[in-house]
Amino acid sequence: MLRAALLTASRNSTVRRLVETAPVSRDVVRRFVAGTSIDDAIRVTGTLAAAGLRVSLDRLGEDTTEAGHADATTKAYVTLLQQLAEHELASVTEVSVKLSAVGQALDEAMARDNAATICTAAAAAGTTVTVDMEDHTTTDSTLSVIRDLRADFPWVGAVIQAYLHRSEADCRDLAVAGSRVRLCKGAYREPASVAFQSRQSVDRSYVRCLRVLMQGDGFPMVATHDPRLIAITQRFVADTGRAQGSYEYQMLYGIRPNEQRRLAGAGEAMRVYVPYGDEWYGYLMRRLAERPSNVTFFLRSLATKG
Ligand code: FDA
Repeated sequence: MLRAALLTASRNSTVRRLVETAPVSRDVVRRFVAGTSIDDAIRVTGTLAAAGLRVSLDRLGEDTTEAGHADATTKAYVTLLQQLAEHELASVTEVSVKLSAVGQALDEAMARDNAATICTAAAAAGTTVTVDMEDHTTTDSTLSVIRDLRADFPWVGAVIQAYLHRSEADCRDLAVAGSRVRLCKGAYREPASVAFQSRQSVDRSYVRCLRVLMQGDGFPMVATHDPRLIAITQRFVADTGRAQGSYEYQMLYGIRPNEQRRLAGAGEAMRVYVPYGDEWYGYLMRRLAERPSNVTFFLRSLATKG
């Protein structure tokens, strides 16, 4: 119930205004978001890289409804990639891009062109791009754009959400040589017609998808904080004889940081997804929806500061 309410609120403009202007929101945001500027993103990336972690930087923003905004987002990614190269962080830092932030809802071709501009900048910087996956109404379009991008940039990463019924089949299509695939549970509110609803059925689907990816020829990116799924990944690694570095773990900035460092210390490739920017509202609401104690944390800071 709480998860559903928070995910509905994540797309409600009235609640958005209320939360964005609440005096304490920024303190809460700081736990999950690097800061508002490129300098903040570079600073946090430098700290994580020094601890042996890889990074994927996400410039916050989604559901863009103006071409000018999509263009500004694209330019901001290009500047970010240039800065990563200048700071010699590009070898351990890629970027994550939401197609809805670069115009997908306006025109798929516009989003594809903008994403290609970002990929060109990533190639020049010596790094890669992963295209985030959003709600199920965009899945076909997003996979189609990724297929097109991969013709010129074969390293473009795709994201599969285990909660969708279709995902095991999508994993089979994507588990080919050179294909980078991030597997996550899925963060949006989806109907039963397209998505598993219970935690257990999502977890079981995750394991089926993981098996396909680990047994395949691609590069699996195991995006979860779930200790059971991390243990199961280790079992698949042993069963398939995969070497460390032929797959990677991924977690979100601010969530299980000690586990992130433990895995990196054990020689695993560990990438932290680091969002930055002003438009943190939708991202924050999805993180609150994932864990009731985050809501308590949020409410407690409202009570103590408000
Ligand atoms: P689950 O939610 O079951 O959590 C397992 C455990 O992890 C919890 O018990 C808790 O200890 C900890 N935990 C998880 N979330 C927490 C939180 N918010 N705060 C505190 N502790 C928490 N989704 C999507 O739809 N499209 C995408 O492109 C991406 N991209 C993406 C990239 C990366 C690198 C990650 C790690 C995740 C995503 N996601 C995503 C989000 C993903 O779909 C999912 O919502 C979250 O990762 C939470 O799911 P877990 O697998 O961690 O399991």
